[in-house]
This record gives sequence, C-alpha cells and structure tokens, in this order.
Amino acid sequence: MYRIVKAEKLAEKIYLMDIEAPRVARSCQPGQFLIVKMDEVGERIPLTICDYDKEKGTVTIVFQTVGASTEKMAGLKEGDFFMDVTGPLGKASEWIEEDIEVLKQKKILFVAGGVGTAPVYPQVKWLHEHGVDADVITGAKTKDLVLLEKEMEAVAGNLYITTDDGSYGRHGMVTKVIEDLVNEGHHYDFCIAIGPMIMMKFVCLLTKKLEIPTIVSMNPIMVDGTGMCGACRLIVGGEVKFACVDGPEFDGHLVDFDLAMKRQQSYKTEEGRAMLKLQEGDTHHGGCGHCGGDK
Ligand code: NAD
Ligand code: FES
Repeated sequence: MYRIVKAEKLAEKIYLMDIEAPRVARSCQPGQFLIVKMDEVGERIPLTICDYDKEKGTVTIVFQTVGASTEKMAGLKEGDFFMDVTGPLGKASEWIEEDIEVLKQKKILFVAGGVGTAPVYPQVKWLHEHGVDADVITGAKTKDLVLLEKEMEAVAGNLYITTDDGSYGRHGMVTKVIEDLVNEGHHYDFCIAIGPMIMMKFVCLLTKKLEIPTIVSMNPIMVDGTGMCGACRLIVGGEVKFACVDGPEFDGHLVDFDLAMKRQQSYKTEEGRAMLKLQEGDTHHGGCGHCGGDK
C-alpha cells in the first residue's frame, strides 16, 4: 500500500498528490510516467510524474478529473492509500543522455499547456539542478488554471505565462508566444512541448516552419500503460509505435497527430475498438494477444 502524504486541489478539477513510493522515487527520471491503482477492482491510471524526492521517497502526481476513476481518486485525502503505484515506466527524456556541458550551450524552450505543465516541471527542475536554465512558456485557459507558477519560476530561466482570455500574463495561446519570442530575436536549439494533443500538433506545425526540433509527450493517448491494450498506438515517421513502451516522448515533427487524435476518439467505444482491431491486425497492440486483435 502507498500512503498519500499530501493531497491538494490546485484548480477546478485539478489535483496534486504526494505519495510515499520510495522505490519508484529512487529510480525516477524526467519524462517517465507511473500507473496508480486505487483498489483491487480499480482502473489502472497512467500519469506523468510531476516531481519526485529521492530522499523523502515520495512521488508527486497532478491529475485532472475526466471520468469516474479520476473523480473517485480526487476524493482521496492525506493519510489514504493507493493499492498500487507502479513505475517509473517509459523511457526517460532523451536529452538527459547528452553531455551536460554540451547541453549548457543550448537554448531550450519548454511549452507547457494546461495540465501538461505538471510533467514539464521535473524536466525544467532537472536541467536547473544541472546548471541549465531553460525558457518555459506556460499556457492556460484563464488565470485560475495557471499551474505551478511559483515552482516553475524557481527553476526556469525565463517564465512566460499566457492565458487564452488574457486574464493573466500574456494574451493568447502558447503558439503566439513562441512566434513573439522568435520575432523578438530569441533563438532556440530545441523545444519540448507537453499538453493537450491539439496544442502539441499546432506547436509542431509552427516549430517545423521555424526549424526548431521539437519533442512531444504522447501520454494523453495511454490507457493501460503496459503495451497490451493498443490504445496508444501511433505512427511516427511512418512506423508503428506505442507511446507507453516506445515513448512517451517522440520527435513531434514525425508524429501523425491527426491519426492519433482520430484513433483516440474511436478507441472510446467498443465498436470503435473492434474496428481498430480489424483494421490494424497484429499491429493493433504491443503483442499480449489478450484482445484477440491479431487472431
Ligand atoms: P487546455 O485546453 O486548457 O490548453 C492548454 C493550453 O494549450 C492553452 O491555454 C493554449 O495555450 C494551448 N492550446 C490549446 N489548444 C491550442 C491550439 N489549437 N493551438 C495552440 N495552442 C493551443 O489544456 P487542459 O484542459 O489543461 O489540458 C488537458 C489535456 O492535457 C488533457 O487532454 C490531457 O490529456 C493533456 N495532458 C497531456 C500530457 C502530456 O504528457 N502530453 C500530460 C498531462 C495532461
Ligand atoms: Fe495500452 Fe500503450 S497504453 S498499449
């Protein structure tokens, strides 16, 4: 059992929890995710890791209530327990393998959209702790939905907040801020964009035009997080990949976002899943064979 040591409501429908999971915390690296399960019959919920403290042995998750399971999860309080916390899963961000001195020479731009701000934070923090101060754009619909502002300010080189309605920070979507920064003379060697699928798609269309290599996190399309369900199948550079096993981070300029978003809609219904299994055959999932998709 994994005890919740902090439970906080950050904004409407958005919650933060620190959970005691020392073995998970010890091995965490930026870019990875974990899976929580509330009880024996509970759904497995994959979530990107918002923070980790190797000494305290805690991991931090931030989630938005989107259905019955996350709604129930939001009701958990400090002192309650998760039955399972599995992780860290997925591959760590590729750039952590780079020589730190080389990384220090690079100008890095993070683009964080809404709840996607949570998984951006550990990456910016890791870089800051290694002497690299990256620029961060955080976008939210409105002032009350701006997340982790103080935390991000403490680790970012420059933090640019923007709201769709102009109620706080700059006015407009994150793509407008990218264009403004480039027009103001900023140069970026690479960009990491994490947020809703539609945001990542439009950030990538823009950064392709601006010739800024861009990494995205395909966590939003995951369901079971183990390569078995086939939910997170996507096409990257013409190849079939699974976000939970091969990612979650990919070269955003190679991701077929339109297909991924269409597929995400189809996956929601039983009929849609049956159609995907039929169309995709033995490439429907990571190969467990449980769903019969490759029979
Ligand atoms: P949101 O809809 O409020 O969007 C956040 C920001 O993204 C906006 O303020 C805007 O600046 C930008 N944006 C949105 N649409 C855009 C467009 N068409 N063009 C350019 N920029 C655009 O976000 P939210 O409601 O907080 O997001 C929830 C989503 O975030 C969920 O779908 C969840 O799956 C996803 N999420 C993704 C990750 C990940 O790893 N990629 C992690 C956590 C959450
Ligand atoms: Fe099920 Fe990746 S989330 S296969």
